[in-house]
Amino acid sequence: MAKQSTRAAWTVVLTLDGDGKLHRQVERALREAIRSGRVSTGTVLPPSRELAAQLDCSRWAVTQAYSQLVTEGYLATRVGSGTWVSWSGPTQRTARRTAAASVATYRFDLAPGAPDLRAFPRTRWAEAARAAARTVPTADLGYPDEQGYLPLREQMSDYLQRSRGAIASAADVVIRSGVSASVAQLCAGLRAMGIDRIAVEDPGWTRLRAVIESTGLRLEPVPVDDHGLQVERLSRRDDLRAVVVTAAHQFPTGVVLAPHRRLGLIDWARRTNGVILEDDYDAEFRYDRSPVGTLQGMAPEHVVLLGSLSKTLSPAIGIGWFVAQGQWRRLLEGPAVLGPSTINQATFAELVAVGAYDRHLRAMQRRYKRRRDCVLTALQHELPTWTIGGAAAGLHLTLTHPSNPDTSLLTTAAGDLGTRIVPLRDYRIHTTETQDGIVLGYGNIADNDVGPAIRSLAKAFANSRRRAAQPRS
Ligand SMILES: Cc1ncc(COP(=O)(O)O)c(C=O)c1O
Repeated sequence: MAKQSTRAAWTVVLTLDGDGKLHRQVERALREAIRSGRVSTGTVLPPSRELAAQLDCSRWAVTQAYSQLVTEGYLATRVGSGTWVSWSGPTQRTARRTAAASVATYRFDLAPGAPDLRAFPRTRWAEAARAAARTVPTADLGYPDEQGYLPLREQMSDYLQRSRGAIASAADVVIRSGVSASVAQLCAGLRAMGIDRIAVEDPGWTRLRAVIESTGLRLEPVPVDDHGLQVERLSRRDDLRAVVVTAAHQFPTGVVLAPHRRLGLIDWARRTNGVILEDDYDAEFRYDRSPVGTLQGMAPEHVVLLGSLSKTLSPAIGIGWFVAQGQWRRLLEGPAVLGPSTINQATFAELVAVGAYDRHLRAMQRRYKRRRDCVLTALQHELPTWTIGGAAAGLHLTLTHPSNPDTSLLTTAAGDLGTRIVPLRDYRIHTTETQDGIVLGYGNIADNDVGPAIRSLAKAFANSRRRAAQPRS
């Protein structure tokens, strides 16, 4: 372990508790600082005379404390090298990290959600961050523009038009920290406009529902079938004027909103003077067909388009956007919302401007397609009796089985083998739908793990069937 010399203000790090003899107080304070992780392994302690002066105690008290902690293995000492922290046991910090990790440690995590975090373009991002830090105008280093950093809004307006068929000028684009943050603001705005209910897809993304409910808006669940949201049902609900929809790739079923439903939805919005919040969360990744354009491009006056970097780069960046036009600009009129860090926005703007974001998306599209194909091959081999749905796009697919197995048993059996899966029913509001299944995410699984993970799932299925067949005692 390399020794780090430190000029810490030891009076800040070590607090003497005033209880008992001074050398014991110094000893306890040092031991506690090491165990808590505040003084890390390798840290060189000051000479006893210096620490004594800082702590306002005798040099003897410090040498006694050092000597006791050397005996206990917290410190080491060598003539000419001084005294340093040699403790290699767990500190409270590492214990906390380990505890957090052990809750979520699976050998194979097949829950939907994450993109390939290993593929984050670290070098490109670092280059863009460097360029951004050099070039962001001094005036922009104050509090961020509420609507978002203008150069990024310009890049996004261009990007959304060319890649998603959206209709958006830079003035229509608002930068937020993600889809969830955008929806929170928009729903608060809807309430302020007197709209108190919003239709949501059932099944749908649970976090988004929680965000909506936290704004006080009531959820109106609308079922989803093989053609997407059952748009016809919207008209049957009086006074409904708002809906959230994942039109290009329904979450979690993976179906695409059928053309007649797209037209029906826009027609409904025009008739009710309503708004469609279009969650375009993973539209960039399409494998077997050409991309579906946005609803927003068909009816910008009734659609607010939302997106974020959570699927294309990483949720850790904390950048998303929405495009709002016409009367829906009023949704922004609520209390001021501070957008994400200008430096991050400028970094992302730079990444788009130099073409690195588009190149990254093209590379990821190829990577995900290859992985999706491997997943399909493995599933056909290991779980041939299961039906695969929603695999033509995005980073997840669904699996259903004609025997409609108990997914609680299956999830537990998979967990026992170190594989995390999520039942479809977890995303449902009304659980009257009897056919359950699994939502299987493959965005963040290593390529080498695809085969073993699907084999583990097949084994879990066999185990869960055996368990289901056992007579109950
Ligand atoms: C349906 C859906 N929409 C949006 C998002 C992205 O949300 P955010 O930008 O808040 O991370 C996700 C992420 O998992 C999602 O599943």
